[in-house]
Amino acid sequence: MIRGNDPILLTPGPLTTSLTTKQAMLRDWGSWDASFNRITLSICKDLVEVVGGGADYACVPLQGSGTFAVEAAIGNVVPRDGKVLVPNNGAYCARIVKICRYLGRAVVDLPVPEDQPVTGATIAAALDADPGITHVAQVHCETGAGVLNDLTGVAQVCQARGKGLIVDAMSSFAALPIDVASTPFDALVAASGKCLEGVPGMGFVILRKAVLEGCAGNSHSLAMDLHDQYSYMQKTTQWRFTPPTHVVAALRAAIDQFHQEGGQPARLARYTENCRALIDGMRSLGFRTYLPDAVQAPIIVTFHAPADPAYVFKAFYEATRERGYILYPGKLTQVETFRVGCIGAIDANEMRNVVTAVAQTLTALGLHADLARRRLAA
Ligand SMILES: Cc1ncc(COP(=O)(O)O)c(C=O)c1O
Repeated sequence: MIRGNDPILLTPGPLTTSLTTKQAMLRDWGSWDASFNRITLSICKDLVEVVGGGADYACVPLQGSGTFAVEAAIGNVVPRDGKVLVPNNGAYCARIVKICRYLGRAVVDLPVPEDQPVTGATIAAALDADPGITHVAQVHCETGAGVLNDLTGVAQVCQARGKGLIVDAMSSFAALPIDVASTPFDALVAASGKCLEGVPGMGFVILRKAVLEGCAGNSHSLAMDLHDQYSYMQKTTQWRFTPPTHVVAALRAAIDQFHQEGGQPARLARYTENCRALIDGMRSLGFRTYLPDAVQAPIIVTFHAPADPAYVFKAFYEATRERGYILYPGKLTQVETFRVGCIGAIDANEMRNVVTAVAQTLTALGLHADLARRRLAA
């Protein structure tokens, strides 16, 4: 975890990467170069292995940020006369609803409170109420508040009822366990710059091969045609259009480090420790978490903003940044919050340093994190 003097990103992607990952970008690659194309193929193989997909699943990489890959998954997997159920407990679920509307796919927007997880029972009830639904689009960790949804419960309901399942595992892939044996899905989307700890610029969709074959001719968009990207790669080993070469090289290095660390269980253990150190430290300063611990994923933590009337996020952000740490604004509609990511090439010591930086920021700005509670107690 050797770094330079840049501030530490406590944001859920882009995030802080290791020096080894950054160094992997110090070379230019040609898109026809066989050694580059071998890297792409090796990455795809490794990504399928992360979910135990074996020979039944394939990974299709796609240029762009994570949303491009989510949009591609919906546009390829859901037929034009399909109907998508989106259990909506946050900003990234809401984005999927928007994507469906852009693509002209019928959508059922099912509101779920932002501090509560989606469960198999939530989905079963919605499917009972509307037999016309063909697919469920489920966000695994809703990065808006940081809630962990019950993906396995949802997948089992979808399988039992013969419904397609598209998973947005953007902020959970490689950190939280996902195995196709217990959590079968049609398509799962994630990206290079999240828990794999690569740099941003490449999304990917892991699809059941039988589903991928059925996608031929379904895409609304040439650039996002996953079936075409896959067939072309199978035939030529190349990307259809200019590949994000440096991103791919960095991802190869990041996946090697992921394996060296001990894969998904080790990554989850580190992020869980990061999250614990952060929450314990922030609570000792008087901050309150938005979510109860039972539904908190160890990915990103939403804290209530200090109740002090002098608090302004921008000043708080700037003062913490001066101390070396970049926080993230809240993404909730009803309450004022800020977020702190636990992911990236950082460890629990770093999280304790973050808490010290926040304590210094409170003192420097003359703020009290727990003013509301003190007033109540008085
Ligand atoms: C759950 C989830 N879905 C989708 C996205 C969108 O990814 P991007 O901002 O890379 O387009 C994010 C980004 O953090 C996310 O956390």
